[in-house]
Amino acid sequence: MKLTIIGSGYVGLTTGACFAEVGHHVMCVDNNPAKIEKLLRGEIPIYEPGLEELVTNNVSAGRLKFTTSTEEGVEYGDVVFIAVPTPPQPDGSVDLRFIEKVAREIAAVMKSYKVIVDKSTVPVKTGEKVTETIKRYAPTMEFDVVSNPEFLREGCAVEDLMKPDRIVIGANSDRAMALMQKVYAPFVAPVLVTDINSAELIKHAANSFLALKISYINAVSAICEASGADVEKVAEGIGMDKRIGRHFLNAGIGYGGSCFPKDIAAFVAISDQLGVPFTLLKEVQKINKDQLQRFIKNIRDALWVLGDKKIAVWGLTFKNNTDDIRSSVAIDLIEALVAEGAHVTAYDPKGTENAKGLPLAGQIKFADSAMDCVDGAEALIIATEWPEFKQQDFAEVKRRMVAPIVFDGRNLLHPETMKELGFTYRGIGRAQV
Ligand code: UDX
Repeated sequence: MKLTIIGSGYVGLTTGACFAEVGHHVMCVDNNPAKIEKLLRGEIPIYEPGLEELVTNNVSAGRLKFTTSTEEGVEYGDVVFIAVPTPPQPDGSVDLRFIEKVAREIAAVMKSYKVIVDKSTVPVKTGEKVTETIKRYAPTMEFDVVSNPEFLREGCAVEDLMKPDRIVIGANSDRAMALMQKVYAPFVAPVLVTDINSAELIKHAANSFLALKISYINAVSAICEASGADVEKVAEGIGMDKRIGRHFLNAGIGYGGSCFPKDIAAFVAISDQLGVPFTLLKEVQKINKDQLQRFIKNIRDALWVLGDKKIAVWGLTFKNNTDDIRSSVAIDLIEALVAEGAHVTAYDPKGTENAKGLPLAGQIKFADSAMDCVDGAEALIIATEWPEFKQQDFAEVKRRMVAPIVFDGRNLLHPETMKELGFTYRGIGRAQV
């Protein structure tokens, strides 16, 4: 099939590359000429395992094209996906101006029947607004609007797209649904067919449920710390119940990233707007905030004064396997340490370049390796769950530190091993050893 993706950011580019990989002919559109030039040269603006190879191969095979022209893009595809940013507004609701603009642009250049698919994460009832907008600007044109939310995780986006748990297609027309089924025919995954509003809601409800699981275990971790229980064992014990499952029960310093904080705020906002406030999610947000504060308090309790202390921080990204530092709890943590006068040296396998662009960068040092980061440190904090942090030579880490204290914000290490090596070790939701 011929497909068009408007917006070549994280979701658009990965989706386009994966569609091309399964044999479709894809044109990715972006209004940023610099980005399109880069992509045409084979340069990928984000770090995502497997993506570069996918883009290069499919460009060479002639199945993946890039353009800055919406007109060319809309002309090209039978199905036009909208994958533009939906940033948050100060009150948590979603700024839908880019979606609205693209809807108008499509309407202005559309010459034949198109299926217009919303891939961006949007609040329920956005599809209705997109339909109204296109009708207003192209009253004589035939088209259908579809909601097809993405569920890809950063760091395994290609895998999530190629082998999804499910494909959700929300459409109110058989004609559009038939075309969408054809788009996804090469993918081996269950397809859930719904109306547009339900599909939109599935995305917000799924992400907030995952965030709820994280906040749940984080709230349990506070009780574990207060009572001497071990949250890792508790998570294992409750996760063995198939109805609950072990996934997303990793206690830590909280969830971050470009999706969860934004999507939960958006779900709260739309529920308020619809007159059915989702107060449970407000608690999820609060627990997530409190979790970092509790962690910092534990550090303060152990080190007494943070001012003038040399603190090594492993991790800048919001999770492992990505270079993304947006809404990263690791960055919030470093900001708080710096505000108390600590001298922070940070190391991250992929996130350093992005972090160097933050205003905070001038106030911290960046190390080239996990080991260099701990040189002369009075404490080490693990802020992101990179597997390489587990594989360090901790005897050497201890030799390099002034005082061997580790605060493990992602419960990556084994307390007993750390104790045997002579560290003072404090994780999340487990006793200090
Ligand atoms: C998420 C959803 O998983 C994905 O389906 C959706 O499409 C986009 O949002 P992503 O933001 O890439 O994906 O990251 P995810 O792997 O879900 O992790 C989000 C945050 O939760 C990270 O900060 C991570 O460290 C934290 N997390 C995750 C925990 O603290 N504990 C866990 O058990 C799992």
